[in-house]
Amino acid sequence: MLRIRGLSKSYGRLAVLRGLDLDVQPGEICGLIGRNGAGKTTLVSIVSGLCAADGGSVRIDGLDAFRDMRRIRTRLGVAPQDMGIYPTLSVHANLEFFGGLNGVRGTALRRRIAAVAEELSLEDLLSRCAGTLSGGQKRRLHTALALLHTSSLLFLDEPTVGADVVSRGELLAAVRRLACEGCAVVYATHHLAEIEEMGASVAILEGGVIQERGDLASVVARHGHSTVELEFAGEAPVLDGWEHDGAFIRRAAPDPARAAAAAIASLDGAATRLRNVRIVPTNLQSAYLAVTGRAPDPIVSEMELVDVVA
Ligand SMILES: Nc1ncnc2c1ncn2[C@@H]1O[C@H](COP(=O)(O)OP(=O)(O)OP(=O)(O)O)[C@@H](O)[C@H]1O
Ligand SMILES: [Mg+2]
Repeated sequence: MLRIRGLSKSYGRLAVLRGLDLDVQPGEICGLIGRNGAGKTTLVSIVSGLCAADGGSVRIDGLDAFRDMRRIRTRLGVAPQDMGIYPTLSVHANLEFFGGLNGVRGTALRRRIAAVAEELSLEDLLSRCAGTLSGGQKRRLHTALALLHTSSLLFLDEPTVGADVVSRGELLAAVRRLACEGCAVVYATHHLAEIEEMGASVAILEGGVIQERGDLASVVARHGHSTVELEFAGEAPVLDGWEHDGAFIRRAAPDPARAAAAAIASLDGAATRLRNVRIVPTNLQSAYLAVTGRAPDPIVSEMELVDVVA
């Protein structure tokens, strides 16, 4: 469905994508993850025709995305990271307008608006002026616009930002339903639990290429040692075998409690500056940590915290 080869993109001297390859199959949800600035939105923008690549190729449904974008556009649903709704139009008018842009009209459009509004709980908001919606409601409308037409490839760039627990569940269910119907979905997020919840495959974007790719279970199995992280007041000490990162030292370990105990025993004077010990259990997050050498930016605080009583 989606086949990307050797994709490159620089902004001035900043090389963001450096020969990136990625395949996504029909019915697959591909969880695209990577640190802030890794290039996820750049990738989504290029593939959906919003920005030009410097090199490489993108094929969608066998068509060349750079040459045949007009034919591809109606098969493609995109909810970019930056929200694009008309604030002066009602929610319903936004849905009508964007549905029309993608070639859905008449009865089909009315049916799709009703279905999408129900799926993303927009029914009670249809007559509201879009500009007066809350942040999470706007994001829901923005995402709904991408779901109006039947696409064979869907790009969602952080669609659950600002969403409450219920809306997030509804959106994940909608994405799963679309995948079950055969749609290929590229889902960029920092919430790794969403990828786990959807059973999505994983693509980790790091250093301008996809560093790790596979189904969830195999990615976690390949890199899934629990990770231990020690945090200090001030600069962390340098310990053999531990990655040093400012106030933190980290290492992946099959037996994390033993690794933490051994590190603490060897701290000497620095022990008084030890503030916290975290053990990140084996899951997508620890696989991500192992591949990228750091935690995903916005959800560090969601790590399981294990305080050590010294
Ligand atoms: N139009 C632009 N001009 C110059 N630099 C840009 C432009 N768009 C993005 N960049 C830079 O390219 C890099 C990749 O940005 P991008 O938005 O693709 O990252 P991202 O992975 O989506 O990050 P986030 O998780 O924060 O959304 C960043 O360093 C960003 O500052
Ligand atoms: Mg982004």
